[in-house]
Amino acid sequence: MSSTTATVVNEIASTLPADDTHPYRTGAWQPNHREWDAFDLEVEGQIPADFEGVYLRNTENPIHPSIGIYHPFDGDGMLHQISFADGKASYRNRFVRTDGLRLEAEAGEPLWTGFYDIAANSKREDGWGARGRMKDSSSTDVIVHNGVVLTSFWQCGDVYQLDPFTLAEMGKAPWASQFPSPTGVSAHTKLDEHTGELLIFGYSTSEPFMHYGVVDAQGNLVHAIDVPLPGPRLPHDMAFSENYAILNDLPMFWDPAMLEFGAHVPKFHRDLPTRFAVVARRGTTEQIRWFEADPTYVLHWINAYEEGDWLVLDGFFQHDPAPAKQEGTPKGMSLYRTIDVNRLQARPHRWRFNLVTGETREESLSDRVMEFGMINPNIAGRDYRYTYNMTGTPGWFLFDGLVKQDVRTGTEERYAFGDGVFGSETPFAPRPNATAEDDGYLVTFTTDMNRDCSECLIFDATRLSDGPVARVRLPERISSGTHSCWTPASQLGPRS
Ligand SMILES: [Fe+2]
Repeated sequence: MSSTTATVVNEIASTLPADDTHPYRTGAWQPNHREWDAFDLEVEGQIPADFEGVYLRNTENPIHPSIGIYHPFDGDGMLHQISFADGKASYRNRFVRTDGLRLEAEAGEPLWTGFYDIAANSKREDGWGARGRMKDSSSTDVIVHNGVVLTSFWQCGDVYQLDPFTLAEMGKAPWASQFPSPTGVSAHTKLDEHTGELLIFGYSTSEPFMHYGVVDAQGNLVHAIDVPLPGPRLPHDMAFSENYAILNDLPMFWDPAMLEFGAHVPKFHRDLPTRFAVVARRGTTEQIRWFEADPTYVLHWINAYEEGDWLVLDGFFQHDPAPAKQEGTPKGMSLYRTIDVNRLQARPHRWRFNLVTGETREESLSDRVMEFGMINPNIAGRDYRYTYNMTGTPGWFLFDGLVKQDVRTGTEERYAFGDGVFGSETPFAPRPNATAEDDGYLVTFTTDMNRDCSECLIFDATRLSDGPVARVRLPERISSGTHSCWTPASQLGPRS
C-alpha cells in the first residue's frame, strides 16, 4: 500500500487564457504551473534494487501567452525530476528561474517574441539567442556535469545550474560566461564520462559565426577556439569521438535576403553540401579539417568513434528538411510541420570520414523514422552497438514509441506507449557492474491522456518489448517535453 506524500510547494501565476486552444499549450502539451515535492511514490511492478540515481527532463512550459505566434521551443523551462534510492522513488518539478522568467514575472506579461516572430516586435531591446531579442528560457537540454544539473537553450544563452536532488537554484555556470561566443552556449553540450570533460559550442550572426570549447571535469573552461563559417548558421548539436570534436555547417540557415529586412527565416539550401568540421578535442582553428556530404539537416547526432583511418559519425539524416504544406492538415497545425519527425523523414544515418585521404562515405542505417537517440553513456565516443530512439506521433512533436536499434545487425525492437500516451526522450541507465552494453535500464516519463496522469516507466533494456518492469505514478499529469538525462547515484554527491 502506498504512503505517498505529495505537496504543492509553489504555484506560479500564469496569464495564459483559461480557454486556451493552442495545440502546443493544451492536451499533452498543457503546461504545469504547480511545483511539487512528492515522496514514496506509488509503484506498479518493482523498481530494480540496483536502479539508483536521478532522471531529469526539461520541458517547454509557458507561463504567459506569446506576443505573436507561439512555438513550443519558446516555452519557459521546467524540470521534472524523479530520484530512485533503496527501491523507492521521489519526484520534484521546478521552473528554471531564468533572468527572462523573472523579468516577465515582474512585468506580468511576455516581453520577448519567439522563434516564429520577428525580433522587432519584442518589447525589450535586450535579450538572448542567436537571433537576438529572444528570451533564453533554458528549456531545451538538461545534463548533469560535475555533480550539478545544467539547463540550456536551443538558440544559445546562459547555462543555469541546479542541485540534482532538490532542484535548488545554483546560479549560472561561470564557464559559460567566459566562453567567447557572443551569444553564449548552444543547448547541446557533450559529456565524455571517460574524461569528465564537457564539450561545448555556440553560434551567432557575427564572425567567425561559431566557437567550440572544452570544460574540464571540475567546471573550468580550458579550451576555446573559433570555428569560422561562411555565414550565420543554425546548428543544433555536436558530436565527439575519443580524440576528435565534430562540428557542423548544415545547409539549413536563415535566408540571407530576408535577414536584410530583420526577418530570421530558416531556408534549406539544397544546392549546398553538408559540411563537417573535424578537430582534435584540444586542437586549434588552423587544425580544423572540413569534410563534405549530401545536403541535409541533422537535429541530433547519436555517437561518433574512430576505426583505423576512419572517423564514424551516426545521426538522424532528414530526408525532407523543408517539408511542404500538406492538404488536409488541421487548421493551425501546418506551421508546426518542421517539428514532426515524420514530415522531416529523420532516419538513422552513418557518415565516415577518412582522416588520411579526406574521403567521405555515407549510408542509411534504418528505414524507420526516428529521432532523439540515446546510447549507453559509458561508450560515448567509442565503437558501440545499441541506440534507443523515439518514434513520433504523425503530425505532432510527440513521442508514441521507443525503439532499441542494433546498429551492427540492423535489428530493431519497439515498444509503443499506446494510443493517447506519449513518452519522453529515454536515456539508458547502465546497471552497476554491467557485463554487456545493453545491460541496464531505460527510463522515461509519460503523459497519459486516457487516464489523465503521468508515470515514470522503467524498462529492462534487454527486454524492451516486454514492457516496463515498473510504473511509478507522478502526483499530476505533466506536459510533454524535450531532452532528458539519467545520472547514476555514483556520479552524484550525498543527498542534501
Ligand atoms: Fe535538441
